[in-house]
Amino acid sequence: MEEIRWVKIFDHPEALEKFVPRSKINTIVVEGKKICLAHTSKGVFAIQDKCPHNGASLSFGYCNDEHNSIVCPLHRYHFSLETGRALSGVADAGRTYPLKTEANGVYLGFKEYKWDWKFWK
Ligand code: FES
Repeated sequence: MEEIRWVKIFDHPEALEKFVPRSKINTIVVEGKKICLAHTSKGVFAIQDKCPHNGASLSFGYCNDEHNSIVCPLHRYHFSLETGRALSGVADAGRTYPLKTEANGVYLGFKEYKWDWKFWK
């Protein structure tokens, strides 16, 4: 069973826009994980910073507005910001993190999987 644990990353929604303006990328470290925030015309998305192909830092790449993707600086593979899947090249999918905006701040979600023991009874 999947659950999402939300962690507040900004106190105000405007702070997110200022931290990562349109067409830009920035990184944050949350609970020891370096996460890339990328802002396209579809909004701000969060994806692991470490490229799933060969480990480059995606934050040194760039946003591709047309495909809502991030482009790795090393081999230029494109990764979907919505699913993390490689849109070009052969690579595993990157881990993506949901974002939600509330009146009191912006939250980053960590998907957690828990056993539902009722299936074992
Ligand atoms: S390290 Fe990112 S595409 Fe190869």
